Formats: sequence, C-alpha cells, structure tokens
Amino acid sequence: MKTMYWKDSKLFLIDQTKLPDEVDYVECSDYNDVIDAIMTMKVRGAPAIGVAAAFGMALAELAGEDLEDAADAIKSARPTAVNLFWAVDRVLRAANSDSGSALKEAIKMYDEDVETNRAIGKYGSVVIDDGDTVLTHCNAGALACVDYGTALGVIRAAKDEGKDINVICDETRPRGQGARLSVFEMQEEKIPVKLIVDSAAGHMMQKGKVQKVVIGADRVAKGGVANKIGSLMVALAAKRFKIPFYVAAPKSTFDEENSIYDVEIEERDPDEVLYYGKCRIAPEGTEVENPAFDIVPSDLISGIITEEGILKPI
Ligand code: MRU
Repeated sequence: MKTMYWKDSKLFLIDQTKLPDEVDYVECSDYNDVIDAIMTMKVRGAPAIGVAAAFGMALAELAGEDLEDAADAIKSARPTAVNLFWAVDRVLRAANSDSGSALKEAIKMYDEDVETNRAIGKYGSVVIDDGDTVLTHCNAGALACVDYGTALGVIRAAKDEGKDINVICDETRPRGQGARLSVFEMQEEKIPVKLIVDSAAGHMMQKGKVQKVVIGADRVAKGGVANKIGSLMVALAAKRFKIPFYVAAPKSTFDEENSIYDVEIEERDPDEVLYYGKCRIAPEGTEVENPAFDIVPSDLISGIITEEGILKPI
C-alpha cells in the first residue's frame, strides 16, 4: 500500500489519523494543504514527511509561487525529522538548476524511497535470526515512508527470506502509532504480531520474550538518534538485558552537522495526553508536558541499518 501518490497535478495522502478504521485519502492541491497534513499528522514518519514536502514544493512551482517562501513555510511544519529540511532543500536546488524542476525531483525522491527501504531491508535482515521475536516502537513501516518501511522493512525482508519472525509492537502513546499503524501493517503482511502497552517492554525483555529491537529514526546526529518518545526507555531496557538494539534509517535521516542534543524536540498538544481517543483521562487543570521524541544515545545502539550497510552511530 502506497502512503501517497501524485495524480492530475495533486498529491493524495492516506489520512493516517483515520487508520486502521478507514483507508481514506486527503487531496492536497496547494502547498498549504501539505503543511496542514504534516502538522495534523495525516502524513507522518520522517521519510514520508520528506517526500510529501517535496511534492508540496512541486505544487508551489505549478502554481507559480515563490519557492523560497514555500520552502520556509513547509519547513516550519514540524521541527524534529530532518528529512523535511533535507527534502525541501534538495527540491529547491533542483528547481533552481537549469534542467531540473521541483516536480521532477519530487518524483525521483518518491521512487528512490522504495529502493532505499528495500536496501535497508536487505542489510538489516542479516541481523534477524530465524525464530526471533522483534520488538519495535512507533511506526517505521510503509506508512512512515512511501512504501515498504525502514524498521518494518527489515522485518518484511527477514520474512521474505523465509525466516520465522514474530513481532511485538509497543502501543506508542500518546498517538498510538504502534497500535494503530504497525499492528495494521503486520496483520496485512500476515506476520504474527502482539501489541503491548509501552510500559510492558522491559518486562517482555526480562522474560526472554524479545531477541532484537529495531526502531526507525527521525534524526541521526552526533551522539545519538532522535525517535518517537519512549525509544530511550526501550533502549535502556535492551542494554540491561543485552538485547541488540538497531535503528533502521536512510542516509537522508542523517544530520552530520549537529549534536543530537541541539535538535529541537517537538512539543505537541496537551490534549494528546489528557485524552485517550475521545475519552478524557485526567482531571481538569492537569498540567502536561508532551514531548514527541526522545534521544537514544549512541552507546545504546548496536548499529544503524542504512541503504549503504550497517553503520556505527555518529
Ligand atoms: O510523530 P511521528 O509519527 O511522525 O514519528 C515517527 C517516528 O518516530 C518514526 O519512528 C520515525 O519517523 C521513523 S519512520 C521510518
């Protein structure tokens, strides 16, 4: 299932806020629609945000709008996933070159995403053994990319090689990407999957029920990796129980310039914490902090699975 497609000069995105109940597409006919889709997380996941942003630039180009203005606006949609900035800058460079265009570059990035994820899957499947149960956090699957996925791509590849793999998905509060999206993807693939609450991950490891952890990344920078809130606790537990902890991410998620500790961690709406779906779970007046990402330091990471092979953290 493709997370997005381009048709009749418009971008169509699966509305991920409606999954798994409904597979519905949002139509983006100008770049502000794309910004809205990123901000409201109709499209989410670092590589998918990057490619959607690239098509946002293409929409601005087709409308004859100022591309520098569009680039600044699109880049302000979310702060942590570096793919957003990488994609917009790449498209801007192409559009400003003699023979390039924003649309041509966006289509190229769309096609590259799937190839890249298949290469990540090929390299990553080597670390997955027949019979492993792999724990993953959030959704680094096809839905976080154009298709196939990074962390879930590794699991797909291992399964395609004939390995018997079981998956454990952390629920991933507050927005439930593990429960809603990763479980959905694994069920579609007929890969045996169990859902746990986030706080059960350490217990499952202590009981010997997890052999590998594979997660995605929003940014790989000097000193570690930023990924969905809760990734740090999973990594600490994995270290304690000597369970290999891998990050699967394309090179477009690498930020070689900055320290991971200087990266802006997105703070989201308190209502995401105060409500479970539509049901309020805390008293009126409750104060909330809702960081969307945390940082896994390099020393907790066994390797970063990329399209170029398994690399050491930077
Ligand atoms: O807030 P989200 O859902 O955009 O966060 C996504 C994640 O943290 C993913 O694990 C990450 O982007 C890797 S996606 C291949």
